[in-house]
Amino acid sequence: MSKALEGIRILDFTHVQSGPTCTQLLAWFGADVIKVERAGEGDATRAQLRDIPGVDSLYFTMLNHNKRSITLDAKRPAGKEVLETLIRDCDVLVENFAPGALDRMGFSWERIQALNPRMVVASVKGFGPGPYEHCKVYENVAQCTGGAASTTGFSDGPPVVTGAQIGDSGSGLHLALGIVTALFQRTTSGRGQRVQTAMQDAVLNLCRVKLRDQQRLERTGVMEEYPQFGMGEEFGSAVPRAGNASGGGQPGSILRCKGWETDPNAYIYFIAQAAVWPAICQVIGHEGWITHPDFATPRARLPHLIDVFSRIEEWTRLHTKFEVMAILNQHDIPCGPILSMKEIADDPSLRATGAIVEVAHPERGSYLTVGNPIKLSDSPTDVRRSPLLGEHTEEVLGQLGYSAEQIAALRAERAI
Ligand code: COA
Repeated sequence: MSKALEGIRILDFTHVQSGPTCTQLLAWFGADVIKVERAGEGDATRAQLRDIPGVDSLYFTMLNHNKRSITLDAKRPAGKEVLETLIRDCDVLVENFAPGALDRMGFSWERIQALNPRMVVASVKGFGPGPYEHCKVYENVAQCTGGAASTTGFSDGPPVVTGAQIGDSGSGLHLALGIVTALFQRTTSGRGQRVQTAMQDAVLNLCRVKLRDQQRLERTGVMEEYPQFGMGEEFGSAVPRAGNASGGGQPGSILRCKGWETDPNAYIYFIAQAAVWPAICQVIGHEGWITHPDFATPRARLPHLIDVFSRIEEWTRLHTKFEVMAILNQHDIPCGPILSMKEIADDPSLRATGAIVEVAHPERGSYLTVGNPIKLSDSPTDVRRSPLLGEHTEEVLGQLGYSAEQIAALRAERAI
């Protein structure tokens, strides 16, 4: 079966996490992704958080599937020539170097356009134009400057960053959409264009409900669905941390389940959806609340959410999180067990759908990775292992028209 992006060639000048997330997705959709790395060390993540000495780390392998790797020193004249050939030959250049690095290499947007006017040039940077545009940025800096950290955690504690890599992988996802959109526009315009994603903006986009709440707070001075309301706490001028309260219009909370004393993940997320309120009351054996004036309507319940959830928790503590899930689902009550990474890794249904994939690697043996979460019926994803450093240098240069002698000369000059 053909792949959606077959025929699209990507010059993948990315490293660490944000850029590689983007190009991995494009590779999964069938693009030919050529990862360009410096000889010797390559992408720094190859050596970061290693679990097997001398072997590409899981950090690297899990972000670079289905790509080819070539080594190239883009600062040597002969290396620059190869890069020019690649730019002429490829459809997209993706990079997430520090601000200005590509220009310093001699490949400004204007120069790339002159070499290949059809090329889409896509970049991730920490910030957009403004006071911080020259700053280097990693994941948690973006979480903090994009509004996620100030709104995550509990009101009596410090800001908290989340384990989901919304700064890095979140930016990579945004960038990938920008690239396919630019490729689509190229079919009518005939021209490439620049695609830029700032990590701060990507995190803010994922936090837009909190900017919604900021404006609600400024207008009304109160956030009735936040735990602070039920606890009688004063609201300040900025959206506070909401603990585990739901971000939507339906109240929710994380509740203890049987075994919580010893298992740190014996919890369930429980949503007190208005539509199923009578069923919730019946399941927990508190039918009186169905008609009680303090509890019968969503509005009446708002000042009593702490009571509501502590009463529900008396019931959830009698059952394991999976029993709670099974019982609540019979009544269409939305809920979700807190799954540990171990439970996720061992879940046969996630293996069956390809959400978790086992991949063979010549140096590390087999390992688990996260498969493509976007399923296309006419372009199924086949997850292939990440490349070894420079594994495809000869192959790619040969395809570009370099002879064996020319390749040997480039190697002698340390350009590849
Ligand atoms: N040949 C020659 N030089 C190369 C090269 C190659 N194949 N690949 C990289 N380099 C050079 C770059 O040109 C740069 O040189 P310069 O500083 O002289 O211009 C140098 O390597 C270092 O690149 P840089 O991007 O500055 O790496 P870093 O390790 O210092 O910083 C980040 C890493 C992630 C902080 C930075 O790249 C960044 O802020 N990126 C944008 C935001 C981002 O994506 N962050 C999230 C990462 S998950």
